[in-house]
Amino acid sequence: MTVTDPDVILGEGLVLRVPVRADRSRWLAMARDPDQLRLGSPAFVAVPETVEDLDVRIALAATAYASVTPGTLVMAGADEPDRLLGTIAWRLDVPPVLQVSDIGYSVHPDARGRGVARRALAALTRWLTTDPEGPAHARVQLDHSVENRASCRVALAAGFAQEGVRRAFLPLRDPDAPGGVRRHDVCLHGFVPGL
Ligand SMILES: CC(C)(COP(=O)(O)OP(=O)(O)OC[C@H]1O[C@@H](n2cnc3c(N)ncnc32)[C@H](O)[C@@H]1OP(=O)(O)O)[C@@H](O)C(=O)NCCC(=O)NCCS
Repeated sequence: MTVTDPDVILGEGLVLRVPVRADRSRWLAMARDPDQLRLGSPAFVAVPETVEDLDVRIALAATAYASVTPGTLVMAGADEPDRLLGTIAWRLDVPPVLQVSDIGYSVHPDARGRGVARRALAALTRWLTTDPEGPAHARVQLDHSVENRASCRVALAAGFAQEGVRRAFLPLRDPDAPGGVRRHDVCLHGFVPGL
């Protein structure tokens, strides 16, 4: 794959690009990783069982990026853009008129602990707020389970201030909980360019 700006978002030694079919096996392994299931994917999001289960997400992601609307991007090293290291997605959880985006991210187990999430978060946040190709949002926010210390470190390191705790907000899978789901308190983080 040859990648050039503006095909992708470049920054922090990473490329953020639209997913392709060749990403499916690493994406599937990441989506089924125990830490991802425990602290990453909300319980209401179906866990993909086969690579084909990712095809709809791949198709939607390409359209979303082209139209500067919410979607998922693959994180990869700038020197190895074909190899999926993780995914990062942006959403509009609050009314679009507020111009606030929400971010979620996951890193493949074999790429964790190398600053991939921190760097991808910084690069996508820059694109969402100040890049002329992005949506020019006024604020970016994310939340994570209070039990997810790694995600808290990522957010702080990328410049997202801690803004409080929202109680019993996020339903996550827990085989020991009634119905296999437990609602977690989440730590809120926000980024405002220039502040
Ligand atoms: C959370 C996650 C995205 C972090 O990705 P990553 O690329 O490994 O993160 P980084 O390397 O950028 O930073 C990791 C930070 O967390 C710290 N960390 C890693 N595991 C940790 C743990 N179990 N407890 C506390 N801190 C931890 C690292 O020391 C580092 O902090 P530092 O820079 O201050 O030393 C990754 O572990 C993951 O995908 N987990 C499963 C899914 C998930 O939790 N997604 C986020 C949902 S909000």
